[in-house]
Amino acid sequence: MTEPTTLSLDLGERSYDILVGKDLIRAAARYISPLLHQPRVIIVSDNNVAPVWLEPLTDSLDQAGIKSQAIILPAGEQSKNFTQLDTLVSEILGLGIERKTTLVALGGGVIGDITGFAAAITLRGIDFIQIPTSLLAQVDSSVGGKTGINTAHGKNLIGAFYQPRLVLADTDALGTLPRRQLLAGYAEVVKYGLIDDPDFFAWCENNAPALLDGDPDALGFAVHKSCQAKARIVSADERETGQRALLNLGHTFGHALEAEVGYGDKLLHGEAIGIGMVMAFELSNRIGLCDQGEVGRIRAHFEAVGLKTSLDGLADSSWSADQLISHMSKDKKVDAGSIAFILARGIGKSFVSREVSMADVKVTLERALDRF
Ligand code: GLY
Repeated sequence: MTEPTTLSLDLGERSYDILVGKDLIRAAARYISPLLHQPRVIIVSDNNVAPVWLEPLTDSLDQAGIKSQAIILPAGEQSKNFTQLDTLVSEILGLGIERKTTLVALGGGVIGDITGFAAAITLRGIDFIQIPTSLLAQVDSSVGGKTGINTAHGKNLIGAFYQPRLVLADTDALGTLPRRQLLAGYAEVVKYGLIDDPDFFAWCENNAPALLDGDPDALGFAVHKSCQAKARIVSADERETGQRALLNLGHTFGHALEAEVGYGDKLLHGEAIGIGMVMAFELSNRIGLCDQGEVGRIRAHFEAVGLKTSLDGLADSSWSADQLISHMSKDKKVDAGSIAFILARGIGKSFVSREVSMADVKVTLERALDRF
């Protein structure tokens, strides 16, 4: 067995390791058991992931004498709501848990977010471990302690910062992902290059075809680099009072698109973020910060791999720039009425701005709406 790479997210007494490698789920007990306060866990998964990965996980735990019980939620973003949270927490309590019981989130971003939030509020906080099985969850949502659910008012508006005790990112799990899911997660990988690592963006340009074909080395490297970048940013600004907002590159635009389309299969989160990042660079170009050549390079890369760069196939004549802006103004990142945008002076030169003129945002959106 190849040893995983180990990263540490440094948050004082809440620090934890992020292990990236192959065969981690089948060997999970080796990494989990030193963290348990009692030989018992409750695994939360969904009906897509559980048929493939629950048994390898429970076999490993059984062999180490760790008792496990599983709760399986319906797969999909629709599960990230109060009703499912109520069901989940009731089932967890129904299993007769104690403060020392640990939850294990086995699944993609939805399972990680709702399980983390359930851990944060059950018995005023119990331990949880992330075993992310989607690329998006491995490179972004499982790391950094953002947990929560959606409401009719918007995405992730109810939640808590609550850190896991361990993240086990098993790149074998990515081999069973549909290509569309892999590609959507890949948008969050490229994001780290666009934020502050132009060499990593160049690596993405050269290695995306292998990565998207499931090459284990390319996937392992991309997950490791992404988690390293995220761990560095989160350890410096856990509660997003400053630089953590950089991780929201493309999200102000992207969340507005998701709110307009409706959460579900029509537009996956990563796809929305891909379009949102192109829009963020277009906006940066409009206000004279970034060359059109840089925007063109990003568009060319996204088009080469098959990521959406426009609203083609999404928007219809009922869409308007004003409506998209009104979605932006409901985002939780609005502060004293001002909307945060991540702008860029070029690839790898992103920064947070709250001084963007909404007239420029409106023109950027209108141009995108004209172009589809
Ligand atoms: N996904 C952005 C963050 O964790 O801050």
